[in-house]
Amino acid sequence: MPHSLVSVKALEPFLLRSHGCRDFPFLVISGVYRPWVLKWNYSNPDVYHLRTVSLPVKMMSSNDLSGFLVHYTFKDVLLGGISLYLVYGILLYIYRLTLHPLAQFPGPKLAAATFWYEFYYDLFPHKLRYLWKVEEMHKKYGPIVRINPIHLHINDPNYLDEIYAGGKRKRNRDPWYYRSEPNGPLGWSVFQTVDHDVHRMRRAALNRFFSKRSVQEHEQMIIEKIEVLCGRFAEACRAGDVVPLTFACGALTMDVISAYAFGAETDNLTRQDFGAEYLEAYSKLSQFGPVGRQFPWLAKACLTLIPSSLMHRISPAAALIPRNRLFFRGMIEESVHQQEEEKRRKSEDSFEAEKEVQKNKSIFQDILRSNLPPGEKAPARLAAEANLLLIAGTETTARALSLVLFHILDNHQTLLQLRKELAPLMPHPDSRVSVAALEALRYFVGH
Ligand code: HEM
Repeated sequence: MPHSLVSVKALEPFLLRSHGCRDFPFLVISGVYRPWVLKWNYSNPDVYHLRTVSLPVKMMSSNDLSGFLVHYTFKDVLLGGISLYLVYGILLYIYRLTLHPLAQFPGPKLAAATFWYEFYYDLFPHKLRYLWKVEEMHKKYGPIVRINPIHLHINDPNYLDEIYAGGKRKRNRDPWYYRSEPNGPLGWSVFQTVDHDVHRMRRAALNRFFSKRSVQEHEQMIIEKIEVLCGRFAEACRAGDVVPLTFACGALTMDVISAYAFGAETDNLTRQDFGAEYLEAYSKLSQFGPVGRQFPWLAKACLTLIPSSLMHRISPAAALIPRNRLFFRGMIEESVHQQEEEKRRKSEDSFEAEKEVQKNKSIFQDILRSNLPPGEKAPARLAAEANLLLIAGTETTARALSLVLFHILDNHQTLLQLRKELAPLMPHPDSRVSVAALEALRYFVGH
C-alpha cells in the first residue's frame, strides 16, 4: 500500500466531515465513505500520512493505528445506503401526504406522493397520456386537482386571469415544467424562458410577426403552397394512392412557416414523402418533454454530451434537431453579415439599401434591427428561437389541419354543408378565396 505525505491544506476542500478520533479520522468525501486512512503526524501537525486501501475496506488494529478498529465491507456500505434511501423516501412520501402545503387538495394519493405516477402515464408503459388521465381526475375530484407532489391542475376558466397574470402583475413560468438546457434545441427560446421580464422582452421582439395584418401580407404565398398540396391530393387520387394526412399537412405548414419566418424554401411539399423525417423529428421532440422533467440529467446527457454521430445511430430523427439548430445558427450568422452589408450600403446609397432591407425581410432580420440588448441577438440564442418557430409553426397547425380534414371527409353531412356554404365564393374547386371573404361566412365563425 502506498504511503504519502499530504498537506492538510490540500485536503481541506475534500474534508467535508471527519469521523473517528484525531489519530485516525475517516474522511467523508462528497457524502461517500472512501477507503482512505489518514494518520496524524505529531512532529508536523500540518501534515497527514495518507494511505489508500483497496475495497473491501477492512482496517485492522496495529500498534501504529492507536487501536481504533472498524469493519466496513462494500456490501455493508451498499446496504446501509439503500436502507437510508428507503427511509428517506418513506419520510418524504409521508410529508407530501400530510404536512406539504398542497396536502389538503384532492387527487389520487399516489400522484401526490410520487412523480412515478406521472411517469407511468407519460413515459412508461404509456406515452404522453397523463393529460387524459388528468381529465379523468377532474371528473372524479372536481375543478382543482393535485396531479403530482408539487402541482395543482385547474380546470376552471375563472382562474385564467389569476394564472396567466396580465397587466402589471408578474408571473414567472414553472422551471420544472419548462425545464430547459441552454444547449438543448429550444434553450434560450421564448418558449423556455422562465423569468417574466426576460420573457416579455423576447416576446415583444416577435409580436409584430404574429399580428393578423402581418400574416395577411403573406396570404398570397400561403395560397400558392395550398395549391401545390391540392395538386398532390389530386395526383394521389388519380393514382389511387393513400396520403399520410399528417405528413401532407406538416409539409404545408413547415413550408409556410419557413417562408414566413426565414424567407427560406424547405420544399417539403414537392418531396415524395413530404419530408417525413423532419416531421417525425419534431414529433419526437415533443415526446422528449416528460423525459426532461422526470430525469433532467438524462435529458442533459442526451442533448449536450452524446456526439451527434452516435445520436444519429440511436435515432436519426432525434439527431436532426441539434443539426437543425446548427443550420439556423449558420443562417442567422448570414443575416448578421447581410445587415452589416446593409449598413455599409446605406452610407453609400440609401435607396439601394432600402431595397435590400425589403428583400431580406425575415423575423431574424427584424430582431437583429430591434433594440434588444446585444446578448439577446447572439446567433446561438436566435438559433434556438428559429428552431422554436419551426417546431411551433409546423407540428401544431399540421395536427389541427389533418384532424379537421379527416373529420370533414369522415362526416358526410359536414362535407355537404361546407360545400353549400362555399359554393357562392368558390364556383370552381380551384377558385381562389381570401381569408377576409371566408370570415364573412357564418358557418366559419360558428354562428
Ligand atoms: C393549432 C395551432 C397551434 C396551437 C394549438 C398552439 C399552441 C400553443 C401552446 C399551447 C403554446 C404554449 C403556451 C404556453 O405554454 O405558455 C404555444 C406557444 C407558442 N406558439 Fe403556438 N400553437 C399553434 C400554432 C402556432 C404557430 C403557427 C406558430 C408560429 C410560429 C406558433 C408559435 C408559438 C410560439 C412562438 C410560442 C411561444 C410563446 C411564448 O412563450 O410566449 N404557434 N402555442
